[in-house]
Amino acid sequence: MFPAKVYSDRRAMLRKELSKGLVLFLGNQDSAFNYPANTYSFRQDSSFLYFFGLDHPDLAGVIDLDDGTEQIFGNDVDIDDIIWMGRQPTIDEQALNVGVDTTAPLKELAVLIKDAREKGRMIHFLPPYRGETILWLSDLMDLDHLKLRENVSIELIKGVIKLRMVKDDLEIKEIEKMIDVAWLMHTTAMKMAKAGVVEQEIAGLIEGIALSHGAPVSFPVILSINGQTLHNHYHGNTLTEGRMLVIDAGCESGLHYASDITRTVPVGGKFSERQKEIYETVLNANLAATAAVRIGIPFREIHLLAATEIVKGLKTLGIMKGDIREAVRKGAHTLFFPHGLGHPMGLDVHDLEGMGENFVGYDHEVIRSKEFGLAFLRFGRKLQKNFVMTIEPGIYFIPELIDIWKNENKLAEFINYDKVETYKDFGGIRIEDDILVTDTGARVLGKPIPKTVADVEKTMNDN
Ligand code: GLY
Ligand code: MN
Repeated sequence: MFPAKVYSDRRAMLRKELSKGLVLFLGNQDSAFNYPANTYSFRQDSSFLYFFGLDHPDLAGVIDLDDGTEQIFGNDVDIDDIIWMGRQPTIDEQALNVGVDTTAPLKELAVLIKDAREKGRMIHFLPPYRGETILWLSDLMDLDHLKLRENVSIELIKGVIKLRMVKDDLEIKEIEKMIDVAWLMHTTAMKMAKAGVVEQEIAGLIEGIALSHGAPVSFPVILSINGQTLHNHYHGNTLTEGRMLVIDAGCESGLHYASDITRTVPVGGKFSERQKEIYETVLNANLAATAAVRIGIPFREIHLLAATEIVKGLKTLGIMKGDIREAVRKGAHTLFFPHGLGHPMGLDVHDLEGMGENFVGYDHEVIRSKEFGLAFLRFGRKLQKNFVMTIEPGIYFIPELIDIWKNENKLAEFINYDKVETYKDFGGIRIEDDILVTDTGARVLGKPIPKTVADVEKTMNDN
């Protein structure tokens, strides 16, 4: 946990963003896995963590904007709990650690909220995303669960996004610690990527590395020789010479700050000419995008710059043709790069996504596109100092998508479909780093994870 003042200051800053009423933060509850007492590993809600810091189930925090008070609701353990879980600090003791001096048993929360409702006070809450929280909130607010979404507080959503998007030094340190663990996960995976190994052997081992550092994975490991499927969670393929292995994996710290790194490596440790050509095109896009980062630039502009680098490279290889700018303007690159360049990262690996992507990534200046490809860009607006973003361009040869486009002769002035046919067995490549927006541009966070052809090959062959 950070010092108590960090949490008090965050709540004070949030109060400045809001006008009146109560702000209600519900912590997460345990969620059943296959029967009630066998639960998924507990993961606290990220906004609750940000403002109230406490990391166990069945807690709520309330900030009263009108009288300035703050309260944590939760129950002290009884002897039955102590038998199973051991002695726990009291809620009062825990609350003091996050700068809150008023607590009450959990059942008092319903009384407070009912009273506020009856008085017609504004009650601010964030969009719930878990079944348990939806039911709890629905009871507290006396609202049908289907009506909760319509009643979330836009003012609160915007305030939380404004604060959580900008990372302080303590948060950046947490993120960098997790990138250093990701370094070990990724370099280990690189060394294991040999023909005959089954994907799950590597996926299981690198998840174990994360756990052995007290850092559960921040999202299910993506590790596949079928990297053309963007989020491939199937780990049953045997690695074969000639394929590339996409490894997209990160972990989260004890305080739940994430890392999210992707590397793509040739099975066996040596890039073929064909692999190297596509790889270096993705790498150029990654480097050009990172170099373009600066305060005030719309992230969508950087996304389109990465797309331009991709078209440039594919044109050199004879896969694309025509005017490069026009190709990007018309979205021809989206056959190969159908996703967005990146997303914010922090307490959530896709930071704040539960608030609504458009609130996080767009504003009155940069409106989300509806076009294929650009519509998947989660974040388009201007970058600010101390935003942490991922930069993750990729090139994928998706046979099903190629067939559809080819049958429609779609954007054929920019795509050499005969040549594309010869890449249908290629797979995909993505290269992802986590960066901090600084006064002078971007700092790639954490210990550098090999990404040039030479460094990847050296790592894979160094035993
Ligand atoms: N690393 C998975 C993603 O960014 O969606
Ligand atoms: Mn990512």
